[in-house]
Amino acid sequence: MITPRLGVNIDHVATIRNARGENYPSPLRAAILAQKFGADSITIHLREDRRHIKEEDLKEIKKKLKIPLNLEIAPTNEMLRISLKYKPTFVCIVPEKRMEITTEGGLNLKKKYFLIKKIINHLKKKKIRTSLFIEPNLNDVKIAKKIGADCIEIHTGKICNLLNHKKNIKKEFKKIQKSVNFAKFIGLEVHLGHGITFHSAKLLSKIQGINEYNIGHFLIGESIFIGIKESINKFKKILKK
Ligand code: PXP
Repeated sequence: MITPRLGVNIDHVATIRNARGENYPSPLRAAILAQKFGADSITIHLREDRRHIKEEDLKEIKKKLKIPLNLEIAPTNEMLRISLKYKPTFVCIVPEKRMEITTEGGLNLKKKYFLIKKIINHLKKKKIRTSLFIEPNLNDVKIAKKIGADCIEIHTGKICNLLNHKKNIKKEFKKIQKSVNFAKFIGLEVHLGHGITFHSAKLLSKIQGINEYNIGHFLIGESIFIGIKESINKFKKILKK
């Protein structure tokens, strides 16, 4: 059995900062504290519209962080250029739509096949670990392998949402479980991310073989009430089971 790593996404510290246009609360401070309190990596999403993290945050965090930095990017040439400039430890490619509140689904791997393949090839040459954010379906897992990614991150938004609204999660749970098993079988690392709360983490932790969880919105929100140390500790405890 493996103990999954916890990646802490600190985008929403930047969201609060940006709401006032001030220089606080500091995403760098949040990253350093999360590192101190047991995060295995820090995730930031440099969106094309820069609504959370800015390029300056990426530069500072990359310089000061000792644990791996996981940069989420849209599959574009601009984001490839930025990734090659700052060389984060990991890159996770995610889809982006301008009007969405958050990342609404997985990548369309068929449509973006050649662009994603090009991005992965460039990143691999710089020894950056590559991951693709996908929906839990076997076809996308197969394409992710073929395209050359090291890992997949399965979008858990749907199951977390069903759970939040006390709806039946059986079908979605099975889909995730099947995708995880198949991905492991063909030699991909498997991560889960999006919408995860203490409650959904408990459910998802029943799936064997997950290497990494990337958690942001709930973890940062909960930090307001119980502190970032306790919020990280609680997730780590749940995910260890
Ligand atoms: N993983 C990926 C690929 C994401 O795009 C996001 C959201 O930015 C997350 C994980 C974290 O999701 P949440 O903030 O809902 O925990």
